[in-house]
Amino acid sequence: MFSKEEYINRRSRLKSNFDTGILLFLGNEESPINFFDNTYHFRQDSSFLYYFGINAPKLAAIIDIDENKTIVFGDEMSIDEIVWMGRQQTLQDKANQSGVDSVKFSSSLSDYLQSAQDKKRRIHFLPPYRAENKIKIASVLKSEKPSLPFIKAVVAQRSIKSAAELVELDLASSISADMHLIAMQMAKPGMKESEIAATIQQIALKDEGNLAYPVILTVNGQILHNHFHGNTLKDGHLVLNDSGAETKMGYAGDLTRTFPAGKKFSAIQKEMYSIVLESYQKAVEALKPGVKYLDVHYTACLALAEGLKALGLMKGNMHDAVETGAHALFFQCGTGHMMGLDVHDMEDLGEQYVGYTEELKKNTTQFGLKSLRLGKELETGYVLTVEPGLYFIPELIEQWKSTAQFSDFINYDKVEDFKNFGGIRVEDDYVITETSYRKLGKELAISINDIEEIRAKAY
Ligand code: GLY
Ligand code: MN
Repeated sequence: MFSKEEYINRRSRLKSNFDTGILLFLGNEESPINFFDNTYHFRQDSSFLYYFGINAPKLAAIIDIDENKTIVFGDEMSIDEIVWMGRQQTLQDKANQSGVDSVKFSSSLSDYLQSAQDKKRRIHFLPPYRAENKIKIASVLKSEKPSLPFIKAVVAQRSIKSAAELVELDLASSISADMHLIAMQMAKPGMKESEIAATIQQIALKDEGNLAYPVILTVNGQILHNHFHGNTLKDGHLVLNDSGAETKMGYAGDLTRTFPAGKKFSAIQKEMYSIVLESYQKAVEALKPGVKYLDVHYTACLALAEGLKALGLMKGNMHDAVETGAHALFFQCGTGHMMGLDVHDMEDLGEQYVGYTEELKKNTTQFGLKSLRLGKELETGYVLTVEPGLYFIPELIEQWKSTAQFSDFINYDKVEDFKNFGGIRVEDDYVITETSYRKLGKELAISINDIEEIRAKAY
């Protein structure tokens, strides 16, 4: 946990947004895999972690604005639980460490809420994303809707990372860099993707942390969120590794590197990689407070499109191509997203509030652009990813070609030669500083030379 003062300050800043009512936080439950007592790794709700720091299941908490009280609802371990799980720090101790006023039995929460409702007091809650919390909300608060003022206040606060959080985020990115370096060092033709994915996971776990999201380690990098690990590496393949650590405190790292399964990139792989790297560098250089991430995305897309034009895959005016979304045949997603306690930070609270504003609403159905999670103006203290890529998806190419989509901008004859090229992405994590940006975590090879140097020693 952070210091008691950090949690007290966070809650007091949150409280200052409200004159009356109750702020309700639902922690997460254990989640069964295949029977009740065999559970997935426990992950606390991120807003609960942010405001209370207590990393345990079966908890809820309220901030009662009118009575100026903060209460955690939960139960001390039963003797049966102590027998099976061992004595752990008491809930009362954890609540003390978090600076909470009092602890009440979990069974008393519904009465507390019911009585507040009877007095017509507003109960603010965040959008539940787990089934059991949806049921809890529905059973007590019936058809009440999540509270927009609560969502907005939490988003505003969690978006700006404190110095203590940046220490964690630097650590998360550094552990993630270790995961990537070992993958780059160990991969060799004949090895299965799953062997490398397993080693990546081991690094994530070894300091009591975890993975921030399931490992993407694939020779089919064109599949954006590919969780299949059953292929065998062959010389000539590109290996795309998108993996990140979650620190013991719950903060995420999110890095991607693409490297040859053999010792060297082929000539055309080098050309394609250089386009992605150029796009990445231009996007990074555009980062600073006051700049819209939408424009950073545009910069990244334009660089990709210009590179593809130089290779003969695109044609015409690349500004027009990017405006209309023609480049999305090769880059179907956004250039980055916020990162923090969640790898896609606060995605549960709603992309419209996290990545956009009232003035800059996301109201596009344009393929590619509709997947950009972050568009709004950057502020000092935001932590985000930059992750452009090029993805050759045979089914998508077929579909667009069959209807001659954007044929003013796409040379389908040339694209045909690349249908099975695969995919390339590079990704790093950044914090927006007072004047520009700072890369989080330790350095990790990204240039062709540095990657080939590591690969030369791999086998
Ligand atoms: N690391 C996966 C993603 O950003 O979606
Ligand atoms: Mn990412």
